[in-house]
Amino acid sequence: MSFLKEIERRRTFGIISHPDAGKTTLTEKLLLFGGAIQEAGAVKSNKIKKGATSDFMEIERQRGISVATSVLAFEYDGIKINILDTPGHKDFAEDTFRTLTAVDSVIVVIDVAKGVEEQTEKLVEVCRMRNIPMIVFINKMDREGKDAFDLLDEIEQKLGLRVVPLSFPIGMGYDFKGIYNIWEKNINLFSGDSRKDIEETIKISDLSSKELDKLVGEKAANTLREEIELVSGIYPEFNKDEYLNGKLQPVFFGSALNNFGVRELLDCFVEIAPKPRPKQSEERLVQPKENKFTGFVFKIHANMDPNHRDRLAFIKIVSGKFERNKPYLHVRNNKKMKFSSPNAFFAEKKEIVDVSYPGDIVGLHDTGNFKIGDTLTEGENINYKGVPSFSPEHFRYINNADPLKSKQLFKGIDQLMDEGVAQLFTLELNGRKVIGTVGALQYEVIQYRLEHEYGAKCTYENLNVHKACWVDPKNSKTDEFKEFVRVKQRFLAKDKQNQLVFLADSSFSLQMTQQKYPNIKLHFTSEFD
Ligand code: G4P
Repeated sequence: MSFLKEIERRRTFGIISHPDAGKTTLTEKLLLFGGAIQEAGAVKSNKIKKGATSDFMEIERQRGISVATSVLAFEYDGIKINILDTPGHKDFAEDTFRTLTAVDSVIVVIDVAKGVEEQTEKLVEVCRMRNIPMIVFINKMDREGKDAFDLLDEIEQKLGLRVVPLSFPIGMGYDFKGIYNIWEKNINLFSGDSRKDIEETIKISDLSSKELDKLVGEKAANTLREEIELVSGIYPEFNKDEYLNGKLQPVFFGSALNNFGVRELLDCFVEIAPKPRPKQSEERLVQPKENKFTGFVFKIHANMDPNHRDRLAFIKIVSGKFERNKPYLHVRNNKKMKFSSPNAFFAEKKEIVDVSYPGDIVGLHDTGNFKIGDTLTEGENINYKGVPSFSPEHFRYINNADPLKSKQLFKGIDQLMDEGVAQLFTLELNGRKVIGTVGALQYEVIQYRLEHEYGAKCTYENLNVHKACWVDPKNSKTDEFKEFVRVKQRFLAKDKQNQLVFLADSSFSLQMTQQKYPNIKLHFTSEFD
């Protein structure tokens, strides 16, 4: 197959949701359709189980699974689909944000009973800011939940989306009869027993036909007719360009557990979802069909075996072909590197591959050269944008608890930060090290991994920080900037990239600082123009 055809047939996306909405179940059903797995229950959930005996043991278990489920690839209808796993647990939100830099589109799963939940709001906001095309799947229609129109309203209000339903439920919960597919103009009847089989579809070209009453009963048929009329009155027409530009979001209803409404979602997805998209580097916009390979690291996974400290760096291919054993430039280190065993991912297996194409993810064995956000090229000096750090939510001093192991401690901290487990800030005043994380769980992870993988021990000490703000160095020559640095010295730190960061101790002090130094720009993410 030609290079261009290989690119055209790739769809790389992520499924995002609040934990328990049904992301794992939906992923599994998609894989079943692709024939990539044979039975339900094959995809292991990587979520942190509630009430787990010990959090860090659970994290180790989860780390093991998440290597396997980081990328799940399968073929459907001649299309190569790459699903990138995004952890739902909020303490790993940063991981998910980074993964979103490598997807070309997303599917948002919402529980019909719970509606829009906190984690969904945060993740959708990131996608909206980046104009990532989104399809919404409202799940668990076999259960009692919110009224479809109310839920669509809620999605518009809380998520700021502009929705267009492409399917519509006929009843719900106990009375759930099926789904009318507005996109294909047919009906899927729900038997409640279609867990494995691909359900039968009945074409209904005209909703006024008596056939509909026979299928779902007169009452449900009339309700559906009214609802579909309302849908066409309220919601805009589906427009593919608007969807691709992130301005319009199609909505599907279904039940992942019952494998219901999933095929409709998948069929529409392969038809409308974007193929690999161009990506902005600091220097220029790079097109997938360019001949020369470029790609970037969006995730690093440490080896589970502490005796082998190699890691797997996940690279999204942006342009050109990635070939085994070909020398590539690691731009940040200005170093040529060759990879003799790049891994590609199929369903839950990884295999060594000779060639990969734009849209694909390859896993490269790494002994500590890569950092999240690094760019690889065939020689060109470009740096991909868009793997920013967000302000952590928790901050603690990290102290060395075993003075004989300080080298190991620093190496461990360094590598864990490169993996993106947490962020490190070094105080300007006294050089003390502060670890910032999205969730409290990460402190346990770090302590556990430092001890088990690096033989180092640490303790933590609380530190009162409300938010980390990256200080724009633009006006650094001005008197105002110099005064800011002098007066606020106690609150200033450097991040791992040596960028200046202001650690505000309260929202009040942040506000006062902004008022007092109006020309000093404080940013809530590490990347700004
Ligand atoms: P997540 O990855 O988004 O966290 O969710 P996951 O797929 O693990 O689903 C969470 C729970 O919701 C699971 O039940 C799952 O079986 C259930 N579920 C998913 N889709 C549907 C659906 O369409 N209808 C109904 N009724 N339930 C659904 P669990 O009891 O927490 O786990 P398990 O014991 O079934 O694995």
